[in-house]
Amino acid sequence: MSPSVQEPLRRVLVTGGAGYIGSHVVFSLQETKRYKVVSIDNHHNSHSKALDHVAKIARDALLPDASERDRDSAEIDAQVCDLTSPAQVRKVFEKYGKGGIWGVIHIAAYKAVGESTEIPLTYYANNVSATINLLQIMSEFDCTRMVYSSSATVYGTPPIIPIPETTRLEAHSPYGKTKIMCETLLEDLCNAEPTRWRALSLRYFNPAGAHPSGQIGEEPIGRPGNLLPLLAHMAVGRVKDDKLKVFGNDYPTPDGTCVRDYLHVLDLARGHLLALDALAPDSHVFDNCPTEARYKAYNLGKGKGLSVLQIVEAMRKATGYDYKYEIIGRRKGDVPDLTADPSLAEKELGFNAPQDLETMCRDLWNWQIKHPHGYEDVVPVKSLDSSEVKTDVNGHGGAATVDRNGV
Ligand SMILES: NC(=O)c1ccc[n+]([C@@H]2O[C@H](COP(=O)([O-])OP(=O)(O)OC[C@H]3O[C@@H](n4cnc5c(N)ncnc54)[C@H](O)[C@@H]3O)[C@@H](O)[C@H]2O)c1
Repeated sequence: MSPSVQEPLRRVLVTGGAGYIGSHVVFSLQETKRYKVVSIDNHHNSHSKALDHVAKIARDALLPDASERDRDSAEIDAQVCDLTSPAQVRKVFEKYGKGGIWGVIHIAAYKAVGESTEIPLTYYANNVSATINLLQIMSEFDCTRMVYSSSATVYGTPPIIPIPETTRLEAHSPYGKTKIMCETLLEDLCNAEPTRWRALSLRYFNPAGAHPSGQIGEEPIGRPGNLLPLLAHMAVGRVKDDKLKVFGNDYPTPDGTCVRDYLHVLDLARGHLLALDALAPDSHVFDNCPTEARYKAYNLGKGKGLSVLQIVEAMRKATGYDYKYEIIGRRKGDVPDLTADPSLAEKELGFNAPQDLETMCRDLWNWQIKHPHGYEDVVPVKSLDSSEVKTDVNGHGGAATVDRNGV
């Protein structure tokens, strides 16, 4: 047994732990048996059962003679807590005391681009004010390491494809601006207190797929805003539109439809482990920072763009569902191509995203058929009538349109 195996579990707080990406990040942390996960989620867009499923995967993977430490790593301290309430967040930190939480992976946020243009203040309050609250409380409790969930949307319409991290930041939506603001405030904090704070922003491209067990996956409350979950909901009968509306086929891309960089959600989740390790005292990722501040941002993508029509075709193969689509005009604000240059994360963090589109679609479909109604799973799919299809928080229903500007 190596000495590191004997070290106490590192307690890591994951905000948004019950959400799509959060639940896969919690899985990845538990898989290492090196961490003790505390999750904060108010279930605005998630189900509490998600974390039960994650813990079950971890427990099932334990050997019969697993140590107490390994058994402990399989249990999650799941706190129902709203990040916009400093009192609620402080209570979680008080439970563990000063220095009791090693670091925070801050994933929780509202993420719908379109909705953010309608209720910008709600987005700024939930995504920015809540982050400030969290950082202030972290500071009080001497917890000064953060991995932050940012997004490719910070690049707006990028001048260079594939997109390097040095690209100027210029978001088109309030949602995207909240991501730039949080990155900025993390950088400022690391500049102000370079011997205390370390932070990494991870700019996600398009996560897709699910854990291969089919026990956790994406379960948006309301109508899916992203292409792959929408296609899965169409195939499983939850979205009953006859046709997918594709916005524009005259973009400067190989088939004229918008191009995005899809990566498997578990590859993305494992990127968080690398980022967390990079916040440790012996890490060298900050050695080449231009100032004393220990802050950096990395793209997490595959570096390969795929068009809307390529995704539809891959989902047709995975599901056997005969998707019909119609091309309608371009939609204002859509960006033709968002493909990452992931070479910095590969070089400095050792990140890679090996899983292909076929695997992402297979795993997404496996999750969807095992949980046609997500974590609720009460009504047989084919008996659903349209009145039972949930609408999103703004009551949006209608045709199967895709928020390709996305997150
Ligand atoms: N899914 C994507 O395509 C994508 C792409 C780029 C970036 N991101 C970013 O990744 C993060 C996670 O995305 P996701 O797809 O897993 O979304 P998600 O909605 O599934 O997960 C977010 C979680 O945060 C929780 N949450 C939101 N506000 C909260 C609050 N005030 N207090 C406590 N919990 C709160 C939600 O209930 C949910 O469980 C977000 O920050 C998002 O901006 C996502």
